[in-house]
Amino acid sequence: MRKKITVVGAGNVGATTAHRLVDKQLADVVLIDILEGVPQGKGLDLLEAGPIEGYDVHIKGTNDYADTANSNLVVMTAGFPRKPGMSRDDLLKANYDVVKGTIEKIVNYSPDCILIVVTNPLDAMTQTAFRASGFSRNRVIGMAGVLDAARYRTFIAEALNVSVENVHGFVLGGHGDTMVPVPRYTSVAGIPVTELLPKEQLDAIITRTRNGGAEIVNFLKTGSAYYAPSAAIVEMVDAIFNDRKKILPCTAYLEGEYGIKGLFVGVPVKLGARGIEQILEIKLTPEEQAALQKSADAVKELTAVIGV
Ligand code: APR
Repeated sequence: MRKKITVVGAGNVGATTAHRLVDKQLADVVLIDILEGVPQGKGLDLLEAGPIEGYDVHIKGTNDYADTANSNLVVMTAGFPRKPGMSRDDLLKANYDVVKGTIEKIVNYSPDCILIVVTNPLDAMTQTAFRASGFSRNRVIGMAGVLDAARYRTFIAEALNVSVENVHGFVLGGHGDTMVPVPRYTSVAGIPVTELLPKEQLDAIITRTRNGGAEIVNFLKTGSAYYAPSAAIVEMVDAIFNDRKKILPCTAYLEGEYGIKGLFVGVPVKLGARGIEQILEIKLTPEEQAALQKSADAVKELTAVIGV
């Protein structure tokens, strides 16, 4: 039997994710949103692309959580973008209500699913989903590191004029301007990047990576990124559904790893059929550890506001 994925939120990230999922035939997809007609219209449009693209998976748009029943995996993208006059805390509280409310409904119908959270502010919203679901930590995963690392890898590949496939590297910490790319563990075809790019150029790439989301928002004006975010989500789904045991940077609930306890923060994890199958604790220099702690403190400030 085919697997089933629910994507909550039929906006830019949700609909593009649904598109990529059916294109890769990873599962049947249910697209759910609070807006009436939008998920139904996008779902039908995607279904009707099947004969041309050659996919047999089914996709349905809906407003009814009963349609999401028995999903193997759920991608949470529902939420509000920041509007003029809205503080960060206002956005935080508004999206907290959305994520908490929708996760409770999801869990009711799919108690065994794996959750991938995408709604921002990412780390705090993943923590919200973790608390609201009551799931074990291996089944609640935040999508940020794969996206941030993809941006980082893009800029390095561009700077060196090499294939993006040759560039490996990851990003630690929260999904915000305190995130911590780690050049010491970044390589190009096995060669440490620190031997290929001067420090100033690497620093500029790290700064650009940290501001990667804002760079897109500044261009789009009325929305945020969705092509790279949806690609990142689908890489995580593929790792889980195909039990690839892939090492990817994801937002995970730490219980003492890296000296951080009771908080979702981005770290390298092994993704397989059981979700997060291992958290990899790599050795950090005191400076890297301090940067990670600072980033975790920034996440903690947000989770304290919403009390999760
Ligand atoms: N239940 C279901 N859907 C909801 C709810 C709710 N309670 N509240 C809002 N939504 C839906 C909106 O109707 C909208 O269709 O969530 C969707 C969000 O879509 P967009 O506004 O297009 O936002 P998008 O660009 O997809 O980003 C979604 O991902 O990357 C993050 O920062 C981004 O938090 C944002 C999320």
